Amino acid sequence: MRDVLPPDIYIWQKVENTAAELFSSYGFREVRTPIAESTGLFARGIGEGTDIVDKEMYTFEDKGGRSITLRPEGTASVVRCYIENQLHTLPSPQKFYYIGPMFRYERPQSGRFRQFYQIGVEAFGSASPALDAEVISMLRHFLQRLGLPELTVQVNSIGCAACRPGYTEALIGFLGDRQAELCPDCQRRHSRNPLRILDCKVPRCIALRQGAPRVVDHLCADCRGHFETLQQLLSSLAIPFVINHEMVRGLDYYTRTAFEVTSGDLGAQNAVAAGGRYDRLVKECGGPDVPAFGFAIGMERITELLKKTLPAVHPAPALFLALLGEGALYEGLRIADGLRAAGRWTEIGDHASSLKSQMRKADRLAAEYVVIIGDDELAAGEFRWRKLADGSEGAAPFSALPSLFGSSP
Ligand code: HAM
Repeated sequence: MRDVLPPDIYIWQKVENTAAELFSSYGFREVRTPIAESTGLFARGIGEGTDIVDKEMYTFEDKGGRSITLRPEGTASVVRCYIENQLHTLPSPQKFYYIGPMFRYERPQSGRFRQFYQIGVEAFGSASPALDAEVISMLRHFLQRLGLPELTVQVNSIGCAACRPGYTEALIGFLGDRQAELCPDCQRRHSRNPLRILDCKVPRCIALRQGAPRVVDHLCADCRGHFETLQQLLSSLAIPFVINHEMVRGLDYYTRTAFEVTSGDLGAQNAVAAGGRYDRLVKECGGPDVPAFGFAIGMERITELLKKTLPAVHPAPALFLALLGEGALYEGLRIADGLRAAGRWTEIGDHASSLKSQMRKADRLAAEYVVIIGDDELAAGEFRWRKLADGSEGAAPFSALPSLFGSSP
């Protein structure tokens, strides 16, 4: 868990503002859900047998004896919110986005934190592959707007309740005796969550699954049609993508489309954003039978990429008021108040300090202009100003202050 400070915070704000603006034009509206939910929601939603639920949740008992968990992701929470607030009664598809911290007790490493932020989107009410394409396209526009057009979109289909059991059986059949040679995690997955063996990164497991059957070859007609149409739509939207037959995702709720956006510049934790379709989750959580699609962007990873491309921003005050004496303090505070209300970043010097020390402070803050106000200036009805960048100086009547400095240039 870590602190986010300036100047990095400016990149975070840029990412959040870009998302809010762009996602709104696709009809997504913001929701804010609690960071803690009943443990059962995640166990049911993400799935017993997943690494997240089995090993990574921050779970505790509250004073009322309830089992509570800090959300490890946003989808289950938004689904709970959707059901509880009967959002399915809104015109379909209902589209929501959220920004906030998530918590997973994972092994920390570069790009992987125990508290991390996601910007996520969830769209409910359409089973059409057009929704998948529209939402993936929105993510691509988002990345383009941030100047990250080169990232790879990987897609796969992991089938549905009708065809996945057949595929799972084929995979288990393929592994046969080799099961005993899998890593301890995959041994466990073999009985509880065999698909996850496909994206294990342990070299021994990668070697053992060479030549394993592919999910796409076991899809039912409906899932195959969905996947083919999605690919055609992505092509028609000029979205470059690759099919990754081994991508299965670490959460159990997905049906059909699964996708990830990866970067070659991030090392092992290379997924910048990921998501997919989850047509059964709303019903499984006690809501109506509503299909859905969504994704989440990892803030730490996207800001890490942007730090490499964007110049660091160091905002500075527009004005520094150097005040000399008690009278100047009253006038200075009044002036600063007006400038700040007009949106100009204004700092005030310590009226009891020397002009020299106030100028030094203005310099350290990299203020654009220093305005000097002392008893002499008050008596003459004029202030003096200095532009720090080039040392140019002048004087002007107090009445000209708003027109000179009152609005952004
Ligand atoms: P996820 O793949 O678990 O999916 O996470 C989405 C993104 O969050 C990842 O691609 C990564 O960028 C970031 N992320 C995940 N774990 C960490 C971590 N420990 N440290 C830093 N960043 C991390 C989900 O969470 C799904 N809820 C996405 C979704 C929304 N599917 C449908 N709708």
